[in-house]
Amino acid sequence: MTDLPPLFAPFTLRGVTTRNRIVVSPMCQYSALDGHVTEWHRDHHTALARGGAGIVFVEATAVEARGRIAHGDVGLWSDNHVVGLSEIAAVVAGYGAVPGIQIGHAGRKASAQRPWEGNLALTEADEAARGDAPWQTVAPSAIPYMDGWHAPAELSDGDILGLVDAFAAAAARALKAGFKVIEIHGAHGYLLHSFLSPISNRRDDRWGGGRQGRMAFPLAVAEAVRGVWPQDLPLFFRVSSVDGSQDGWTIEDTVVLAGELKGRGVDVLDCSSGGIAGAVTAAQVRRRQGFQVPWAAQVRREAGIATMAVGLILDPDYANAVVADGAADLVAMGRELLANPFWPLQAAVTLGADPDYARWPDPYGWWLTRRARAGVEGRDPTQ
Ligand SMILES: Cc1cc2nc3c(=O)[nH]c(=O)nc-3n(C[C@H](O)[C@H](O)[C@H](O)COP(=O)(O)O)c2cc1C
Repeated sequence: MTDLPPLFAPFTLRGVTTRNRIVVSPMCQYSALDGHVTEWHRDHHTALARGGAGIVFVEATAVEARGRIAHGDVGLWSDNHVVGLSEIAAVVAGYGAVPGIQIGHAGRKASAQRPWEGNLALTEADEAARGDAPWQTVAPSAIPYMDGWHAPAELSDGDILGLVDAFAAAAARALKAGFKVIEIHGAHGYLLHSFLSPISNRRDDRWGGGRQGRMAFPLAVAEAVRGVWPQDLPLFFRVSSVDGSQDGWTIEDTVVLAGELKGRGVDVLDCSSGGIAGAVTAAQVRRRQGFQVPWAAQVRREAGIATMAVGLILDPDYANAVVADGAADLVAMGRELLANPFWPLQAAVTLGADPDYARWPDPYGWWLTRRARAGVEGRDPTQ
């Protein structure tokens, strides 16, 4: 076991051990009905868990109905949502992955079309075409995300306290559904991020102003979620490490936030970036494999908290190096796993962690190991 490549070394957080360091990043499927998961979600998560990842996250799950990005978002604002999600958690665990769920609120980026239906703010035309009516969005300040987007209503002090409770209630339901890891979505311009960033938060009350005030709501959410999430289960927080704009949130801010979150019982900082406002977002960031990894490394080093790297991580050798170099403890992947859910099991073979396909389900592994031994020139065992 000591010779395992670091990507395949198990990782223990509180009372949970993952079989490797590969994590299925939360990915909205826009395929839910009134917040309820559908067969699509079951099949999608089955494939990803069977593919060998260590943790499989369910997408950004809305803590209240108006916190959905689009009508197809999964929700946990009602006890009625628990049953469907418990099936997903059980399926994921049944395939040996740790079931995780991300909870969030879309804030001023809510009331949007599904990506393939336009990816813009909903209009009356969407209601006429598909019954997808727009709704009133909310935010720290009444500043739209971009031209053409809804003007959000500014949240009152009481509203904000109510939302802290909504996050805690959703976390309690996620626990009931059987999830073992929970992540708070504090990135990509959605509600929590819009409180952090001075671009979107112009408040002068206790929820705004300087960095400490802008962090107050996300920190209150983290505390409330930790309050209902058992001590033996891990809590992750996804952050946009930088806004990508000079007058926005910076990596130095993220390091400070990480320290504050750690003090409130957050175990892993999931280091993404961007999303606060269209044109300026991540403008200075060149996209290449692992472009966000340096932020995960800096947070890990300077805040002394475990990190998860994400963003264009594609190759097994590269993913292994991220963990081996100590840049991050976990590697989250999105689109590459959509393209190939078996990436983790294939990476184990490629990196020498599984020369005999022993990690594969027997109905597949038996054949693959014999094909590998025989080579293409050998006798075909299917004959
Ligand atoms: C279809 C899709 C849906 C996504 N939904 C979410 C989400 O629900 N929550 C989130 O934090 N990020 C979401 N993301 C971002 C991914 O989690 C990930 O950070 C991003 O795709 C970069 O990783 P990749 O290059 O491996 O795809 C989504 C990405 C995709 C492609």
